[in-house]
Amino acid sequence: MNQGCLKIMDYETISVKPLTAVIGAEIGGVDISQPLSNQTFTEVHDALMLYQVVFFRDQHMSLEQHKTFGRQFGELHVHPSSPNLEGHPEILKIHADENSKRVAGHGWHSDVSCDTEPPMGSILYLTDTPEIGGDTMFSSMYAAYEALSPAMKVFLEGLSAEHASEHLYHRQGFQPRDDLRDGEFPHAIHPMIRTHPVTRRKALYVNSGFTRRIVGLERKESETLLEFLFDHVRTPEFHVRFAWEDNSVAFWDNRCTQHHALWDYFPQVRSGFRVTIRGDKPFYSAQDDSDARSGSALRLSGYGLKSRP
Ligand code: SIN
Repeated sequence: MNQGCLKIMDYETISVKPLTAVIGAEIGGVDISQPLSNQTFTEVHDALMLYQVVFFRDQHMSLEQHKTFGRQFGELHVHPSSPNLEGHPEILKIHADENSKRVAGHGWHSDVSCDTEPPMGSILYLTDTPEIGGDTMFSSMYAAYEALSPAMKVFLEGLSAEHASEHLYHRQGFQPRDDLRDGEFPHAIHPMIRTHPVTRRKALYVNSGFTRRIVGLERKESETLLEFLFDHVRTPEFHVRFAWEDNSVAFWDNRCTQHHALWDYFPQVRSGFRVTIRGDKPFYSAQDDSDARSGSALRLSGYGLKSRP
């Protein structure tokens, strides 16, 4: 299996410690409760593009500061169905304790992939964490795509899949928001391999939370292929596993990762807030992505946004 190792880059205003050869890095030397300078913003954004998920320790943010940090990377997303925090529609409360019957994110998924324009990224800030357990696992969808055989890549590149939410959200007691998406539970058709709009790398884009069927295949064919791909996402070599401490932050790119929140800490408390950043409509471009993977696109500042939002 060859996913191509990540290169270690130079950063001027932050420290970046890669956690595995394919995904995840811990960022230090920055207080994200304060507005980032242009240089620091570029470096954090570059690290996110390269490592796909980045982690910060010992951060202290109010709800407003959390939203302000998120807004530096794009407009904030409002969840189409989950109850939001009162007075803060852009914030999801993440909480589990001895009364919990379920926890958010317990299963491999990419956030709200049922939306026509699924979120680009999510920023989770946990203030109370269990003494042991409650890790979140992240899987690189670049690595998942790159590990497929050439024949399977070609087959999947021509296919789209349906992502739905009613089966998930209804079970959780959520209702579609009347003010959003015409009061319907969101669903969308997306390419199974998507081109990342910034890095131009290709990523597998199906997940066991939302993806229900492959368009144009017989039911048995679709179920069997999806089951293979969901299992492929679980390959340990594609993963980084984050052990939370109080006041840690994880910032992940939903366009090229999936995550799974472990629930091995019942009845302990695990609690915090998530801000989610809006994304664009997934697309597939047949253009070869070997340049993007070779490192030429991975240089510091190589990922500058056209303009900072
Ligand atoms: C989520 O899917 O946003 C929850 C992740 C977590 O609680 O670790």
